[in-house]
Amino acid sequence: MRKIVFNETEIQGACERIANELTRELANEEKIPLFLGVMKGALNFFMDLTKRFEMPIYLDYIQVSSYDGTKSTGNVKLLHDLRFDCEGRTVVIVEDIIDTGVSMNYLLNYIKEKYHPKRIFVVALFDKINARTVPVQIDYSGKVLAQNDFLIGYGLDYKELHRNVPYVYIPDEEEYNYLTELANNN
Ligand code: IMP
Ligand code: MG
Repeated sequence: MRKIVFNETEIQGACERIANELTRELANEEKIPLFLGVMKGALNFFMDLTKRFEMPIYLDYIQVSSYDGTKSTGNVKLLHDLRFDCEGRTVVIVEDIIDTGVSMNYLLNYIKEKYHPKRIFVVALFDKINARTVPVQIDYSGKVLAQNDFLIGYGLDYKELHRNVPYVYIPDEEEYNYLTELANNN
């Protein structure tokens, strides 16, 4: 049995709330703000969130990897860099989930040092508040999670599978075994 953590209606509600708050926050920017999706996990959230903005915004993406299966390795690799001039511009980082905080901590330092943005906002669909090993800035979150369960769906994957499921859930043992088997044979 799948235990649903965030259904499609709840996800859209979170996107709407965050987009409204950010629209007010970004009302007086001199430069067009850049929304930066953290791939691949934020892919669905990035599109559902950004399509709600009526003001001009730029979109780009960055890709990092730190997870192996269901465990964070604590070692962040940059797989794809953004390609935008961020000097003096507000950057909104859009992430799927903040777990240990290691990835976001790395991204914030990297972007600040290399691109000198005016300011950075961090938006995460989920905030696993009790999983942090490093403190990290989060300005907006869709849902705060007290438990450290491993979640799948809506961008979040297990062995690259089920990113396309339209809601977020906790799988049971049987589904883990099935997905592990499937991924190992494909
Ligand atoms: P952190 O560096 O430990 O904060 O991990 C952040 C990254 O790990 C996220 O951007 C996700 O890609 C991945 N991650 C963390 N928790 C989960 C989860 O429950 N399901 C799927 N991916 C996760
Ligand atoms: Mg991620």
